[in-house]
Amino acid sequence: MDITLTGILILICIIIYSSWDTFYRKRNLPPGPTPLPLVGTLLHIRRGELVNSLMKLWSQYGAVYTLYFGSRPVVVVCGYEAVKEALIDQGEIFSGRGPLPILEEFTQGYGITLSNGERWRLLRTFTVRILKRFGFGKKSIESKIQTEAQCIVEEFRNSNGQPLDPHKNLMDAFSNVLCAVIFGDRFEYKDQRFIKFLQIAEETFTLQTSNWGQLYSILPTIMKYVPGPHHRMIPISQELEGFIHERVKASMETLDSTSPRHFIDSFLIKMAEEKNNPNTEFNLKNLLITTHNLFVAGMETVTTTLRYGLLMLLKYPEIQAKIHREIDQVVGGDRAPNYEDRVKMHYTQAVIQEIHRYSDILPLNLPHMVTRDIQFQGYDLPKGTEIYPLLCTVHRDPKQFSSPWKFDPTRFLDESGKFKKNEAVMPFSAGKRICPGEVLARMELFIFLTTILQNFNLTSMKEFTETDITPKLAGFLNAPIHFELSFLPRKI
Ligand code: HEM
Repeated sequence: MDITLTGILILICIIIYSSWDTFYRKRNLPPGPTPLPLVGTLLHIRRGELVNSLMKLWSQYGAVYTLYFGSRPVVVVCGYEAVKEALIDQGEIFSGRGPLPILEEFTQGYGITLSNGERWRLLRTFTVRILKRFGFGKKSIESKIQTEAQCIVEEFRNSNGQPLDPHKNLMDAFSNVLCAVIFGDRFEYKDQRFIKFLQIAEETFTLQTSNWGQLYSILPTIMKYVPGPHHRMIPISQELEGFIHERVKASMETLDSTSPRHFIDSFLIKMAEEKNNPNTEFNLKNLLITTHNLFVAGMETVTTTLRYGLLMLLKYPEIQAKIHREIDQVVGGDRAPNYEDRVKMHYTQAVIQEIHRYSDILPLNLPHMVTRDIQFQGYDLPKGTEIYPLLCTVHRDPKQFSSPWKFDPTRFLDESGKFKKNEAVMPFSAGKRICPGEVLARMELFIFLTTILQNFNLTSMKEFTETDITPKLAGFLNAPIHFELSFLPRKI
């Protein structure tokens, strides 16, 4: 019995080793640490330090290297030049979406974010067109952003200078802007359905970005059987989907196909137009999951960026004072800031750009995939290879930014103090998959930051250190530390 068991074990080891050996050695993939059977290169990633570990491997192996998530090879692309070559110069081929197992179990390939091929192309073109129609980048959405910004100013004013954590207020406000575009109305911040909706959307994002979520993405076949919070993803995603479904049903009852009121109406009209096409992608499932994608992608990201921005203004009061001066000169105190004001507010634009670069909120980007065989930087990447174009290596690329770990908005100003762009700031990624919410997020960040600073001096009892503000580069999301601040009314 013992001899048989030992024999079987040896045989299994030989099979695993030889399949791994042929699998791994026969490819002309970029170099990288040697993988082990079953766990791949997991041991090269320090616990809770995924991004830091990947950045270290960048300095060891250069601009492209290969990791193994179990037996899946993943090609990591680092630094501005290589990321630009992949996402922009070879944009079509690198436009595939790589797997994100923690979300995929729920989305099953539906929706805009995790789909590929014709489905993605159709949903993407439609979504971008409809979001534009409902105001992305236009005056109509600007007034909705201004309304929310004024509501939040009132909330902060009511705090009477007492320290508070602005996370929830910001999340309420940014979510309401999205609700206006997608559902056609805003919610009162105290509305219990809205509170519940935000809780689930936030939990979805938090789970996706947690260590559990990351481990699930690296070793899905093993993590499926390991107990842990990652198993909550399906029930909470279904709850969020249920909430959206209720809104869809309500829209159906009052739909006027000649006059769409919001994103959901437009999608329903397209579904009706294509009802005789058995292969249409405009079906209920794609509507629910695409809407789910927009909320999950669009709430926490903008909130985190602005929270990071507020933290930087507390750390550097002199930067805050300069923005105050620019607001006083360009906007004054008698009207609300608008997006057009940015053209004259070079310093404020430079600060926002530096907040994006420094905070680097999605350091890993989302996973990509090559849609056909390609030679890249001298290596052969077969169709379907997973690609991680790391935004953190672009934002900290020493060839693009001197002292990349320093927060310095003046790097985006020319000699005459005018705002100057740098293509190596790509918080929204680049190429065919670039974030479709970029225009909205940029408008929101500018209008919220200037409206808050038009009304308040920001102060904190705590003195923040360099360590407090430095991004932790632990995982999928770079969130700032927990902090509180006081909003002291100012007179212009
Ligand atoms: C500061 C705020 C934001 C940041 C930093 C950000 C960043 C990103 C990044 C890095 C990606 C991955 C792009 C890629 O795969 O190459 C992405 C995708 C996406 N974002 Fe955003 N985003 C923000 C706000 C928003 C907003 C407000 C929305 C919704 C209106 C949104 C919706 C999406 C969607 C749907 C995708 C998937 C696109 C696709 O796969 O074609 N994002 N975002």
